Amino acid sequence: MHRIKKNMEKLHKPVLLSEVIENINVIDGGEYADLTFGEAGHSDVLLNHRISALVGNDRDETTLQRYREEGKYRDDPRLKLVVGPFSDFLRQVGETKFDGILVDLGVSTRQLLEPDRGFSLMKAGPLDMRMNPGKGESLASLLARLTPDELADELYKNAEIRDSRKLARKIIEGFNQGQIQTTLDLAQVAGKRVPGKSHPATALFTALRMMVNHEKEEMETSIPALVEALKPGGRLVVITFHSTEDRLIKRLFLKLAGRCTCEEPICRCQQPAKVKLITKKPVEPSELELLENPRARSAKLRCVEKI
Ligand SMILES: C[S@@+](CC[C@H](N)C(=O)[O-])C[C@H]1O[C@@H](n2cnc3c(N)ncnc32)[C@H](O)[C@@H]1O
Repeated sequence: MHRIKKNMEKLHKPVLLSEVIENINVIDGGEYADLTFGEAGHSDVLLNHRISALVGNDRDETTLQRYREEGKYRDDPRLKLVVGPFSDFLRQVGETKFDGILVDLGVSTRQLLEPDRGFSLMKAGPLDMRMNPGKGESLASLLARLTPDELADELYKNAEIRDSRKLARKIIEGFNQGQIQTTLDLAQVAGKRVPGKSHPATALFTALRMMVNHEKEEMETSIPALVEALKPGGRLVVITFHSTEDRLIKRLFLKLAGRCTCEEPICRCQQPAKVKLITKKPVEPSELELLENPRARSAKLRCVEKI
């Protein structure tokens, strides 16, 4: 157990760390929220600064519980931990306003590496993939009720998987016939691994995880609302790991900045600007970071500032 803990600590590296700190605009006495607390990689560094408060949110209760037991700042009165999806965050914190909010999407290293959670491509685990264990529908329960066409639409919408119809049919048939019972069985449906290349099931697992956790819906509803929770001059920083997510964040940010995103002959979407764009193009990891942490390879950071 001790060895697993040590290995996880070594394995987890917060993505785009210095870029987050630079963009979120850390000020002495400032108040911050980390909506995807995970293993506290970013939060611990924010708490190293002279900020006055940090609210750490995660929908995975186990991750927060572990921090309460062994986290670096677990007894620090500046830190408050709240559990729930970030779409529920504003209800939980009420009228509080922040100088900076961070959203680092996706799963944490620990969630990925613990086969029991059902995210692992390399080790057999249950068909689960829920970030909040035990709540909502697991992957198995969704596979039991979705039609191949419904699953194909999800695969395409979430990760633009080519051949999504064929793949979805194979998955639903394999599941119904009892051939797909674990994450390893599922990964093999996408093809054999070629050494030196990313696993052929990577995009499939991303799409399924996004479906199980309603990740796009979370972003669509939460990002505009989160801007309301910023103080004037406060910054919202979002890190994505897939081009479909990045495109969605880009569109939401443009809309909040008062730009037209509707592609209609006569614009129907333009609204007064609530933010200004701080990153015109997404910030990507440096070559050095990619050498040290290949998991960061598809990360993109975007930032807006409340007007
Ligand atoms: C990429 S990890 C964050 C890693 C963290 N920044 C660190 O450096 O340790 C994403 C975390 O956000 C959580 N998460 C993802 N989507 C969420 C959502 N919609 N609401 C709340 N938590 C979410 C996951 O459970 C996971 O722990």
